[in-house]
Amino acid sequence: MFEDFLEKKLLEIENSGLLRTLRKAQDTPESKINNGNLINFSSNNYLDLAGNKDIAKTSENIIEKYGFTATSSRLVSGNFAIHEELEAQLANFKEKEAALVFPSGYQTNMGVISALMSNEKESCIIMDKLNHASLWDGAKLSGSRIFIYKHCDMNSLEKVFKRTRGYKLKLVITESVFSMDGDFAPLKDFVELCKKYEAVSMVDEAHSTGVFGKEGKGLADIFGVEDKIDITIGTLSKAFAAQGGFVCSSRKFIDFLINKSRAFIYTTAVSPAICAAALKSLEIIKNSDHRRQHLHAMSKLLKNKLTELGFDTSNTQSQIIPIVTRSIENTKRISSHLFEKGIYIPAIKPPTVPKNQARIRISITSRHAFQDIEQLCNNLKYFK
Ligand SMILES: Cc1ncc(COP(=O)(O)O)c(C=O)c1O
Repeated sequence: MFEDFLEKKLLEIENSGLLRTLRKAQDTPESKINNGNLINFSSNNYLDLAGNKDIAKTSENIIEKYGFTATSSRLVSGNFAIHEELEAQLANFKEKEAALVFPSGYQTNMGVISALMSNEKESCIIMDKLNHASLWDGAKLSGSRIFIYKHCDMNSLEKVFKRTRGYKLKLVITESVFSMDGDFAPLKDFVELCKKYEAVSMVDEAHSTGVFGKEGKGLADIFGVEDKIDITIGTLSKAFAAQGGFVCSSRKFIDFLINKSRAFIYTTAVSPAICAAALKSLEIIKNSDHRRQHLHAMSKLLKNKLTELGFDTSNTQSQIIPIVTRSIENTKRISSHLFEKGIYIPAIKPPTVPKNQARIRISITSRHAFQDIEQLCNNLKYFK
């Protein structure tokens, strides 16, 4: 009975062309980049810190001291000095009073949104239409009423604000660099509108931390609005090349989360070894202007070449460069062709992106070289 149910469900997914499968391990290691086997254009290892020996060494030393696991929740006996050190440094990096670390970026978004929001009549969440699944899942879990504005469209946001005047608590959520389009939220206008309508602003900097701004502080630093954002989210799993997520905000909000966020309270604390890795990453990230410059140069080069070839790269302004084909079949065909030629870029299909928005999502890291971009473009031009 259970087996039949599963078979039917899997068949339905397969028939719609959306079956997800894990590839064999040959695709995964970053180490294969430039080793002649596979050029990996799929990872979020933006500053090429995965596999960094100094990070590994720092982490190893902490494992020797504490072991690997924190063994219990932060509120039980899992609160180590290294958690507090990491949080203090992250808060300082993001120019906020305090920070809180979670086991993943996904869990951070779930834990923050669902702690703050509820189905109370007087509160609502306002979302950019293209926000990441973790933001949507947090919003849905909260039970709050949800309003949507058009992607990055501040006129649309203002219209929503006018419709929601009666709500006392409004949480407005955007990503800074969007994970599937690589475009920027207009953060200056965003925070100004939030202030005007007395709403709480939340910005997810998962794909911009480490990559943009002074010392890699994020896109908010470029827009000069870091201190105007109420809640800043980051992940330790992308440019940081460690694991986990974090929220930076006022001391009061962090104290509130320690009391109310179930995703923080009812889970084992992040491993001290991971905290050590993240602390070392942070030090490296701050001193990585050379990596950022190269990353931006390679991203610009690829974007220009793809535009010249006539591909639709959406409105990307970052290291995330989509080629929007719209057709699932074409996307899969391009991805398979590239794989045969030694280039790994997975096909991105709904529901990760909206219907008719299938794409390949290229992500550049500071490890990519001019020749990698050339090789990619030479293989892509057959599809134009
Ligand atoms: C915008 C955004 N927020 C949060 C996350 C989740 O972060 P993590 O991978 O650390 O769980 C992602 C992951 O892709 C993301 O793109």
